[in-house]
Amino acid sequence: MKLFLSLCIFSSVIFISLPSSYSCTSADKNALLQIKKAFNNPPLLSSWNPRTDCCTSWTGVECTNSRVTSLTISSGELFGQIPNQIGDLVNLRTLDFSYLTHLTGNIPHTITKLKNLDILRLKQTNLSGPIPDYISELKSVTFLDLSFNQFTGPIPGSLSQMPKLEAIQINDNKLTGSVPNSFGSFVGNVPNLYLFNNKLSGNIPESLSKYDFNGVDLSGNGFTGDGSMFFGRNKTTIRVDLSRNMFQFDLSKVKFARSIVSLDLSQNRIFGKFPRELSKLRLEHFNVSYNRLCGKIPRGGLLQTFEPSAFSHNLCLCGTPLKSC
Ligand SMILES: *[C@@H]1O[C@H](CO)[C@@H](O)[C@H](O)[C@H]1NC(C)=O
Ligand SMILES: *[C@@H]1O[C@H](CO)[C@@H](O)[C@H](O)[C@H]1NC(C)=O
Ligand SMILES: *[C@@H]1O[C@H](CO)[C@@H](O)[C@H](O)[C@H]1NC(C)=O
Repeated sequence: MKLFLSLCIFSSVIFISLPSSYSCTSADKNALLQIKKAFNNPPLLSSWNPRTDCCTSWTGVECTNSRVTSLTISSGELFGQIPNQIGDLVNLRTLDFSYLTHLTGNIPHTITKLKNLDILRLKQTNLSGPIPDYISELKSVTFLDLSFNQFTGPIPGSLSQMPKLEAIQINDNKLTGSVPNSFGSFVGNVPNLYLFNNKLSGNIPESLSKYDFNGVDLSGNGFTGDGSMFFGRNKTTIRVDLSRNMFQFDLSKVKFARSIVSLDLSQNRIFGKFPRELSKLRLEHFNVSYNRLCGKIPRGGLLQTFEPSAFSHNLCLCGTPLKSC
């Protein structure tokens, strides 16, 4: 009986002390405390208390098997640059610093130490300078979101070397230059391209025509020339937005995949007749206004369900919902 009791006590002690075996690894805790210090101990990180467990009670920190695997600080006041010590959280899978308008500077080179990083989201902060080439050393990243920042300079061609990338989301920056030629040879996945609202220009490399993009949004740039490489009868593309550019191609020569549900070509210099097969698509969003199209809008399908403004300001388009021919 005595033995049984002491066994019970012994095992309950083990049980009570068990959670601590899941608590924050000291290397990770130290790295986080260094990060807090680099940000000047902001109120936003007041829960990052050295006496508590960083895995269970620190804002924005999540662990797997005692290692910090996710750091998500979304909205609030953090002043300064992303600290170099971010690279010491070597087990990070998710790094999300978003809606932090006082986060400045560039992405530190130490980020390349995060070999397990899956999601890199630095959205709507005040990061600036060129998007560093070394981002492409993060071979595990599937989701890259650097949108709504102050990034300038060209799109790094090396992004095509990230084999698992599913989305390149670099819209709403101040990027210049053209779509890199290397985007004609992705080493792995063909990612969704969200390049809208930048200052990009030039022609799209013809080599992109071999890819079947799921979604492409190049709107609000200064792209010129042919944009028809994103289309093709046998593709499975769902969404294409080329609006507010200077694309110039013959729409009557374009073959559309049946999969397209959202098509915005408005405000370009697209010419030619209105392709009959557009009436066969299950379109949910459609706009070809402000181009140089001519001829009759085919009847049937969903085309007549769109407002006249989806067709207006072309050279000589006619037929419902515009005036009869
Ligand atoms: C963003 O950074 C720029 C300098 O790059 C600075 O002038 C501006 O005030 C910053 N904005 C905010 C909201 O901190
Ligand atoms: C599209 O697929 C069909 C049937 O698989 C094939 O015959 C045709 O050549 C393909 N067209 C193109 C442009 O690849
Ligand atoms: C089509 O685009 C034009 C120009 O951007 C815009 O004014 C109009 O409201 C749009 N119409 C529809 C139905 O989306």
